Amino acid sequence: MTSSQSRKIALVTGGNRGLGKDMALSLARMGMDVVLTFKSNAAEGEAVADEIRALGGRAAALRLDLSDIGALDGFVDRVKATLRDTFDGAQRLDFLVNNAGIGRAIPLDSLTEADFDAFAGVHFKGVLFLTQKTLRLMNDGGGVVFITAAADRYNVPGYGLYAACKGAIEVFSRYVAKEYGPRGIRSNTVAPGGVATDFNGGFIRDNANVQAMVVAQTPMGRLAEPHDIGGLVALLCSDDARWLTGQRLEATGGFNI
Ligand SMILES: NC(=O)c1ccc[n+]([C@@H]2O[C@H](COP(=O)([O-])OP(=O)(O)OC[C@H]3O[C@@H](n4cnc5c(N)ncnc54)[C@H](OP(=O)(O)O)[C@@H]3O)[C@@H](O)[C@H]2O)c1
Repeated sequence: MTSSQSRKIALVTGGNRGLGKDMALSLARMGMDVVLTFKSNAAEGEAVADEIRALGGRAAALRLDLSDIGALDGFVDRVKATLRDTFDGAQRLDFLVNNAGIGRAIPLDSLTEADFDAFAGVHFKGVLFLTQKTLRLMNDGGGVVFITAAADRYNVPGYGLYAACKGAIEVFSRYVAKEYGPRGIRSNTVAPGGVATDFNGGFIRDNANVQAMVVAQTPMGRLAEPHDIGGLVALLCSDDARWLTGQRLEATGGFNI
């Protein structure tokens, strides 16, 4: 860490809305500065950055499209320039939260190669190479959190491609833990169950029957809220989680245990 970088800095993908917004704000409330990304909703990204600044933190919102692998180097260059210009000359990051994602139910029989490329591009290839490039900017003692999905354990018809990509990332996370542990860098996955966000066209948010089914199988007896996930991500990025690496944390209130 450079002398101008006394506060820790986290990069949160998809931080403009949904689960990522709560993660960005939870990290800021813990005293961290945040670079968050959006894909198309720039105004939402700037609004979250404003909320972080109001909490006393430094923040920036940058555009990132994980499906455009060729643009990742340019994105990392913009992160470096943002750290230099907006974060008092900082040169390195401390945490990466791989949250951004897409969702859609596709029965296996109707899966196309285009579907495969779209999901694997965002959820596997994009996450893998963003992580590789971001680790080059990471301070020793930092960490990576991958947001996967509990559907990579319990199996929901129509989500085979999505869940397989999340499962691939769960394996990748353990390799990050193995290769970067000697630098004190930790890597863990958080696997949420259903949360009522815009995700998958608002399938859970807009469907009372699905919500009732989820609650009925959740020992904690309610639907998840974004902070149930964001608070856990903040904990994983804190010193209290310093001995936790290579792990998968299923955050579902006990759904289907
Ligand atoms: N909600 C759930 O029930 C649930 C359950 C299990 C796991 N998850 C996982 O949790 C994560 C966040 O989900 P969410 O519920 O917050 O989803 P959401 O509300 O739909 O938000 C998705 C976020 O990802 C960004 N994004 C979409 N496509 C992108 C791309 N190609 N490149 C970069 N960013 C992109 C969006 O940016 P724009 O707004 O600019 O488009 C947005 O910030 C995802 O990885 C998802 O798989 C969600």
